Amino acid sequence: MSGHGSFSALRRLESFIGAGLLMVVWLAFVPMTAQAANIVIYGASGNIGSKIVAEALNRGHTVIGVSRKPESLTIRHPHFKAVQGDVTDVDSMVQIIRGADAVILSVRGNGADNSAEEEVDNKASLTYIAAAGRLGAQAPRVLQVGNQATLYRNGVQGLKSGKYEEGTAFYGRVKAHQLVLDNYSAVPGLKWTVLSPSGSIAAGQRSGEFRIGGEDVLTDSAGKESGISQEDFAVAFIDEVEHPRAIGKRIGIAY
Ligand SMILES: NC(=O)c1ccc[n+]([C@@H]2O[C@H](COP(=O)([O-])OP(=O)(O)OC[C@H]3O[C@@H](n4cnc5c(N)ncnc54)[C@H](OP(=O)(O)O)[C@@H]3O)[C@@H](O)[C@H]2O)c1
Repeated sequence: MSGHGSFSALRRLESFIGAGLLMVVWLAFVPMTAQAANIVIYGASGNIGSKIVAEALNRGHTVIGVSRKPESLTIRHPHFKAVQGDVTDVDSMVQIIRGADAVILSVRGNGADNSAEEEVDNKASLTYIAAAGRLGAQAPRVLQVGNQATLYRNGVQGLKSGKYEEGTAFYGRVKAHQLVLDNYSAVPGLKWTVLSPSGSIAAGQRSGEFRIGGEDVLTDSAGKESGISQEDFAVAFIDEVEHPRAIGKRIGIAY
């Protein structure tokens, strides 16, 4: 190689390294937009789950909606697929969630005797824990819908406030949400998040504006529990998928 040739090769190398450095600086300072995630949603046919599906699709994510009757999921979207699955079946969950970035559990159903242990939320969390154990480091994180009665007010948990009668279907469902928190907390290193509505939750509008709390109920200026629309609750779920801030925690969502 001539002296001139080696000089221009050196210049090319210099500009290549320069461009690389520029790219590193650019990546460090330009805010990252969320990557499209692969999200599995159990309860996609439900009141809250269907809003989470819609929010995820609107934000460019790919969604697998799981149902015991997938033909009931009539969503037509290029990034949506319906699959058959039961949230209490570990083998099928392992297959369905393998390769996903996040799995969302928005299911409900009382067992025969209204016991919390038989409630589908409790069983779903145990199924996920078993599936995650089989998938190891490849397991997607889990986000589950919680219940406001597991939150605290003046140091007293809603469940123990005397408002809920033991033995009823409602008590069994709420207690199951506490078991979910206990189940997840007992597994070191598990990537879980429970999002509880802080007060009432109902179909409404999407505003994208809400507060995020911790273990305590969020109240309004009159001291009343603040509610949330299902649409904004769904925003909170997909925000947490895109920007994980509450791994290994329960958070409360309210206006
Ligand atoms: N709605 C409320 O006011 C409210 C308030 C606080 C907390 N929450 C909590 O929010 C969550 C969702 O409630 P929701 O009102 O949206 O429920 P929902 O409308 O009654 O829907 C229940 C969902 O659970 C799914 N499901 C039940 N058993 C299943 C199983 N074995 N395998 C797979 N999927 C199963 C159903 O799917 P398929 O039938 O399609 O299989 C359905 O999509 C629950 O944890 C609930 O306790 C709800």
